[in-house]
Amino acid sequence: MSLSISVRPVDLSGLDRFSLAIALPPAAPMTAALRPVDVALNGALARTLERKDFGGTKDEVLHLAGGSAGAQRVLLVGLGKDAKGDALQRAASLAARRAQSLGIERLAFYAGGASGDAVERIAVGLQLGAWEYTDLKSPPPEEEQKPRLSEVVIHVDDVTGAAAAARVGEAIGAGYDLARKLAMMPGNVCTPDYLADTARDLARRHELAVAVLGRTELAELKMGAFLCVAQGTPQEPKLLVLEYRKGPQTAKPIVFVGKGLCFDSGGISIKPAQGMEFMKFDMCGAAGVLGAMEAIARLGLPTNVIGIVGATTNMPSGTAMNPGDVVRASSGTSIEVINTDAEGRLVLADLLTYASRFEPSAVIDAATLTGACVIALGHLATGVFGTDAALIREVIDAGERVGERAWQLPLWEEYKDAIKSDVADLKNTGGRPAGSITAAKFLEAFATGYPWVHLDIAGTAYSESDLVAIPKGPTGVPVGMFVEFARGRAR
Ligand code: BES
Ligand code: MN
Ligand code: ZN
Repeated sequence: MSLSISVRPVDLSGLDRFSLAIALPPAAPMTAALRPVDVALNGALARTLERKDFGGTKDEVLHLAGGSAGAQRVLLVGLGKDAKGDALQRAASLAARRAQSLGIERLAFYAGGASGDAVERIAVGLQLGAWEYTDLKSPPPEEEQKPRLSEVVIHVDDVTGAAAAARVGEAIGAGYDLARKLAMMPGNVCTPDYLADTARDLARRHELAVAVLGRTELAELKMGAFLCVAQGTPQEPKLLVLEYRKGPQTAKPIVFVGKGLCFDSGGISIKPAQGMEFMKFDMCGAAGVLGAMEAIARLGLPTNVIGIVGATTNMPSGTAMNPGDVVRASSGTSIEVINTDAEGRLVLADLLTYASRFEPSAVIDAATLTGACVIALGHLATGVFGTDAALIREVIDAGERVGERAWQLPLWEEYKDAIKSDVADLKNTGGRPAGSITAAKFLEAFATGYPWVHLDIAGTAYSESDLVAIPKGPTGVPVGMFVEFARGRAR
């Protein structure tokens, strides 16, 4: 049921079986390539551009009905002034989303002089825009059923390398799709067991090594931090490990680590009811890791990448941890639990310790870790923390290249004072000031022996409002950044 994307040289004559999307910058002139469309529309395209009825601004969409022959519908999609990769991806996403809602099954996307990189971005955008999660909706009555967008042909002047670029875009799109689906699935469906099955399925399809550890194994590993979070739920917690090894045998792997709270109620320090349903998205870090593994495996990158996910739920119950409890992480560090709602860092503490056994060249964790990060950066940027300046730069640059913005926040030594405990080595919260920094400071204590970056994706992994090019819900962040980082390392 997925979207098929292909590439062909520009030819906008014919297209009877298709609708056509044309991405244009502001004040775009009529060109020879567009002429056949204009002819089919009896001059409506030229008149539209002439009269400036379509301005080509960012997120602008104008829908023209097709003529008696040629494309059935024409969607003019604005690129805005900066018609680079981000704009093309966004326009493609918008076109696909609009096509989906119009019931367009086959779409031609006119991309003119787009380079290979641009075609890749368009292919990613098309899939982001076409994505829907309808598994849990009853189908509408027969007469209201619309076809789904199933085929897009990208028309470009120079097809050299464009087909390969579209394949790459498809692989990355598949990674985003998986991450968004997992994130959108409700907590009673996307359980730690379901994430484990997803990891096993990924491993089977792509011949990866997979390990699934449950409560017994976590206890053997003395993962008291992870386990204290899982203590309140009857569901088996799962530590998932996926190993993709297509690089030189001796090359140290990249390790991606994801927070996988399939639901975070806060535990005994329970959250307010308002908006608590969004805490099904507290596994977006895990979804990002699994999505990135999907894309990386499809791309067949010549590198070694390991994905680690810690999956559980944070529930209040008679067996749940209580504020004031002290637990011991697998590193030996003792932790006083001040607030049971600061559970992500407890899970990550043991995952970060576990990561060191792979002798990583870099460890990057992604977590919907703090509400404070949303206050600091809003929904536009992922919070970035780390101890290795070069790695931080590399991660931020990778995100920048694929339209996933990220911003560094400091990890100065003085912040550590906030998480000193009276009874244990550390406490799990440092109060409201600099809440995302003190959370990262906590993680830093466990991220030893390798270059490390922490991504706080609380504001970027999902949206509570419609984002125009994509609907409200999961964005797929940080799949693009992870994959681009791995590609950078594989070059
Ligand atoms: N999963 C939440 C963080 C979160 C909040 C993500 C809002 C997305 C949107 C995390 O487990 C949490 O509850 N953090 C607490 C930490 C506090 C108790 C120190 C928070 O941010 O309030
Ligand atoms: Mn929490
Ligand atoms: Zn959480």
